[in-house]
Amino acid sequence: MNLKHTATPVLQAQGVTKRFGALVAVDHVDFQMAEHEVVAILGSNGAGKTTFFNLLTGMFAPSEGTIFYKGENITQLSPAERVAKGLTRSFQLTSTFDTLTVLDNLVLAYYRSHYKTTIWNLLTTRTASLHHEPKIIEAIETFDLQDIQSRFVRSLSLGEKRRLEIAMAILADPEVLLLDEPLAGLAESEIKGVLKVLRNQIGRQTILIVEHKISHIQDFAQRLVVMHDGRVVAEGGYEECLNHPEVRRSYWQIEATEDANA
Ligand SMILES: Nc1ncnc2c1ncn2[C@@H]1O[C@H](COP(=O)(O)OP(=O)(O)O)[C@@H](O)[C@H]1O
Ligand SMILES: [Mg+2]
Repeated sequence: MNLKHTATPVLQAQGVTKRFGALVAVDHVDFQMAEHEVVAILGSNGAGKTTFFNLLTGMFAPSEGTIFYKGENITQLSPAERVAKGLTRSFQLTSTFDTLTVLDNLVLAYYRSHYKTTIWNLLTTRTASLHHEPKIIEAIETFDLQDIQSRFVRSLSLGEKRRLEIAMAILADPEVLLLDEPLAGLAESEIKGVLKVLRNQIGRQTILIVEHKISHIQDFAQRLVVMHDGRVVAEGGYEECLNHPEVRRSYWQIEATEDANA
C-alpha cells in the first residue's frame, strides 16, 4: 500500500500571507511537501518567492496563516529553532568565512551543528583531527571540493563557493533543504556543477529550490509551483505548468522573450 498520499506533509503552509504595509507580497498561499520530494518555486522578479521562502525559514512571521513541520505548528518558531528541527536553508554568501580554507569552513559547519560548540572553541582546537571526520571527507567528494579544499574561500569562483555553501548546509544533516536561487549569477558550466551535487541529495533530503528560470530545473524538480503577484498561479509537472494559461500570461512571456530574444 502506498502511504505517501496519506502521510503528514514534511512542510506545509496554510493560507500564508505576508504584507509589507499596503503591499501583499505573499497572498494566502497553500503549499505542502512530502518526504524526499523535490519541489521548485518559480516566478518572475517580485512574484513573492523569497518572501515565501523567508516565511518558511522563519526569517519573517506571516501576517496570516500557519506553517507546519511534520504536523507541528512552527509559525512562531525562530529560524534557529527551525534549523534545530531539521529545516535548513543554504546560507547564501554570508555564512562562509572568507579568511578560512574550504576545509576549515566544512569543519566549522559540521562541528557547530553536531556538537553545538562555539566558533571560538573550534578555532582554538587543533583542527587536524577534525579534518578526518568521515562525514567531512564524504562531503568533499560529493561536492567535488577535492581540488579546492586548501584554498581560502575569498579566492573561490562563485560556482565553487555555491557548492561549498550547499555542502555546509548538508553537513548539518537537514531533513529539509531550502535553497533560494542557488544558481543565480552562475555561468552555465557552474550551474551544471551545482545541479550535479544537488542531484546527489535526491532521496536523502526533502528539497525546495527557488528558481527564476524554469529551464534550469526542468530535469531536477519533481513538481513545480509557479507564483505571480504573491499567489500560486499553477502547480504540477513541467509540461502542465508550461502550458498553463496564467503562467503563459504572467511568467512565461518573460522567459520566452529572454530565450527567443524577440
Ligand atoms: N522587506 C521588505 N519590505 C518591503 N517590501 C518587500 C520586502 N521584501 C520584499 N518586498 C516586496 O515584496 C514583493 C515580493 O518580493 P520577493 O519576495 O523578493 O520576490 P521574488 O523573490 O519572487 O523576486 C516585491 O514587490 C518586493 O518589493
Ligand atoms: Mg527572490
